[in-house]
Amino acid sequence: MPTVSSPLRVGICGLGTVARGVVRVLRENSEIIQLRAGRPIVVTEVASRRARPEVDLAGAGFSTDVTSLPNHPEIDVLVELIGGEDTALSLIESALMAGKPVVTANKAVLARHGDELQQLASKQGVSLGCEAAVAGGIPVISALEHGLAGNEVEWVAGIINGTCNYILTAMARSGQSFETALADAQRLGYAEADPTFDIEGVDAAHKLTILSSLAFGMDHRFSEIHVEGISGVTLEDLGYAGQLGYRIKHLGIARRSAAGVEIRVHPTLVPETHLLAHVDGVMNAVLIHGNAAGDTLYYGAGAGELPSASAVVADLIDLARGTALPPAANRAVDIPVIPIQQNVSAHYLRIPSSDRPGVFARVATLLSEHEISIEAAIQRAQAIHTESEEHWVPIVIVTQPVIEGKVTEAVAAVQALPEVVGEIVRIRVDDLDGH
Ligand SMILES: NC(=O)c1ccc[n+]([C@@H]2O[C@H](COP(=O)([O-])OP(=O)(O)OC[C@H]3O[C@@H](n4cnc5c(N)ncnc54)[C@H](OP(=O)(O)O)[C@@H]3O)[C@@H](O)[C@H]2O)c1
Repeated sequence: MPTVSSPLRVGICGLGTVARGVVRVLRENSEIIQLRAGRPIVVTEVASRRARPEVDLAGAGFSTDVTSLPNHPEIDVLVELIGGEDTALSLIESALMAGKPVVTANKAVLARHGDELQQLASKQGVSLGCEAAVAGGIPVISALEHGLAGNEVEWVAGIINGTCNYILTAMARSGQSFETALADAQRLGYAEADPTFDIEGVDAAHKLTILSSLAFGMDHRFSEIHVEGISGVTLEDLGYAGQLGYRIKHLGIARRSAAGVEIRVHPTLVPETHLLAHVDGVMNAVLIHGNAAGDTLYYGAGAGELPSASAVVADLIDLARGTALPPAANRAVDIPVIPIQQNVSAHYLRIPSSDRPGVFARVATLLSEHEISIEAAIQRAQAIHTESEEHWVPIVIVTQPVIEGKVTEAVAAVQALPEVVGEIVRIRVDDLDGH
């Protein structure tokens, strides 16, 4: 029977980037970790698809059978770091069923199965740690669960996908095309060989699902999130956004109002005076507005071996100390998710139109007929010469905040004008001031 001062025995599933980091941090920082945890934390077993003899497991046993780990008699906690959905989910369930706490970095599993896993953990009286699942090394889960626990959180907005942020930063800074910036991100290890989950916003939506659940006490509502990626963002739009005093960032935004909660992931024009506009490269940042604390901002590395391991080890230290609690039973509040067409946002519109007099006035009239006011505009943008020899100029407009359904209707009406010669681009604008 383990005593209070006996080691916390850890079993790790997976031996990839994060798992190797966890082994390393537990080994290299063992003294300080023991001091803080009040007892040693020792990896006793590792299981993964294939052995990695080059990794120093510091005496831990190794098996290629991951399914043996949840019920292994020599482990007190299961750390799931294989990623993916099916096997990872069944490993987590098996460990919880065996009455063992779990630590996971798996945002995909939590976003889709977080409610049932929390209920199971609650029933079994064990904890389910997931600090590494959102924003890597940034302790944002801990901020929501502990530091801001006395607040009603009003909104959360974050740059929570390093791949998207790297690509948008490279495009804005060096004028690289989306394709070149993505290829560079892949070469540097910042993007997967198949980058779809990152660039199409799915990874950010997984993380925003977890953040919203913690921030507002709601269920994990991944399927109701409005998700847009960055593959449609062009150098032209980054340039016009700059002229208007904005930068384009890929944001996850969750905001509570009397009507419910907006949860959305999409490219956003952010004022260049805002701190989030200056979070560049692969870095992440999460801004949380609580009704007592006001704005608090968390910045750091959102991925990588050691930053992610730092978060996993923090969860293990909580467990070793005895401060990791099971999720509360019946914690979820029933909050409606507001459909995107009812969301209120300002919009950036780029309208490719022929270079003829009166076009801007016609566009402005149509917007006004849909109760949309113009906040700012670039009317004499650089003329573009097309194959048909006709000059066209983009009309670039920033609207005042308006219900999105009206923007959809207005854009359809403007698109139908004979002078509009190409697809209208629309990107939401957010001043990140809570309105
Ligand atoms: N990388 C990061 O910076 C980061 C940050 C935050 C969260 N995360 C999350 O952390 C988790 C792990 O990510 P990672 O980057 O460490 O992944 P990774 O480098 O691909 O490592 C995954 C490990 O699990 C093994 N594995 C995968 N599927 C398996 C299966 N079905 N059975 C047995 N072993 C299996 C892999 O074996 P093989 O090597 O043989 O394929 C590999 O050792 C994911 O949920 C990820 O979303 C990662």
